[in-house]
Amino acid sequence: MHNPTELQKLIENAIPKIAYPANPANLYEPIKYIMSLGGKRIRPVMVLMAAELFTDEVTKALDVALAIETFHNFTLVHDDIMDNAPLRRGQQTVHKKWGVNNAILSGDVMMVESNKHLSKVDLNVLKPVLDTFNQTAQGVCEGQQLDMEFETRDDVSIEEYIEMIRLKTAVLLGGAMKLGAIVGGADEKNAELLYQFGENLGVAFQLQDDILDVYGDPEKFGKQVGGDIISNKKTFLHLTAKQLINSEETKVLLGTHNSPEQKVNAVTTLYNNYNIKELSSAEMQKYLTKAYSALNDLAVEESRKSYLRELTKQIMERES
Ligand code: IPE
Ligand code: IPE
Ligand code: MG
Ligand code: MG
Ligand code: MG
Repeated sequence: MHNPTELQKLIENAIPKIAYPANPANLYEPIKYIMSLGGKRIRPVMVLMAAELFTDEVTKALDVALAIETFHNFTLVHDDIMDNAPLRRGQQTVHKKWGVNNAILSGDVMMVESNKHLSKVDLNVLKPVLDTFNQTAQGVCEGQQLDMEFETRDDVSIEEYIEMIRLKTAVLLGGAMKLGAIVGGADEKNAELLYQFGENLGVAFQLQDDILDVYGDPEKFGKQVGGDIISNKKTFLHLTAKQLINSEETKVLLGTHNSPEQKVNAVTTLYNNYNIKELSSAEMQKYLTKAYSALNDLAVEESRKSYLRELTKQIMERES
């Protein structure tokens, strides 16, 4: 078995070896750019780690891991257009560098590239792999749609928010675990438990992302701090604050401001006054506990689960 760092290296070495066509250069350069910018490689490592619970041949899961990372990067390219984000992994976003139309098309072809990786799996698991991948990908699109719709709504509930992040983020972590389990040869029950582990971890992961969006260190975060506040995202932080504040403060949260910077400062101050960071962390812990409970139920020798616990710890302690 391999530890998280070793698996991350395996992915890091495999990515530059992916062969894309040379032309049109403006279609493929953005793909190489975004794929080589680093990132934590959480999802492909999860694929490999899930597979390694059941097989010693971790390379059997490499194509699926690359499919998942390519798909994830595709969603980032399109997400950054939708969120009007200037920065990704500490660098210019693809649409800022190449333009929106180019970013749309490069993203589209990344989805195709994901499928090309997937079609390399053993024929005996091809159907469950494709079914799981498609269900996951569709969930992400549904979640992204809800995320956008929520921007202009003032009556979003916390329940709706959790369902939205389950779709836009958590199903991909769940799907990564399940896909790894399938190619590793897990039975259905274990594959489902690993899905549950990944999905609950994914909800915790997005809550953490929302916290970092406000409280991250700009030097380490790699994205624009305060981006969610600027684009009126209905995050757990926003929705929790809204429940606690008075009517004057509600004007600060929902009203117009002189500049994006002023809005970020005013809303962050409001969050600070109501311990919103701590309340959000508590919510995150709830989902982390659920994730661990699925992992405990997994019918695999305890010692084989320790790298997964290590990875989980790393994910939850991240700064970007
Ligand atoms: C960013 O995912 C998108 C979210 C679901 C919050 P990551 O935080 O895993 O991004 P990278 O791949 O490490 O850059
Ligand atoms: C991420 O949500 C969801 C997807 C990319 C599918 P965010 O919009 O919060 O992700 P970041 O913060 O830009 O990475
Ligand atoms: Mg975004
Ligand atoms: Mg987004
Ligand atoms: Mg975010």
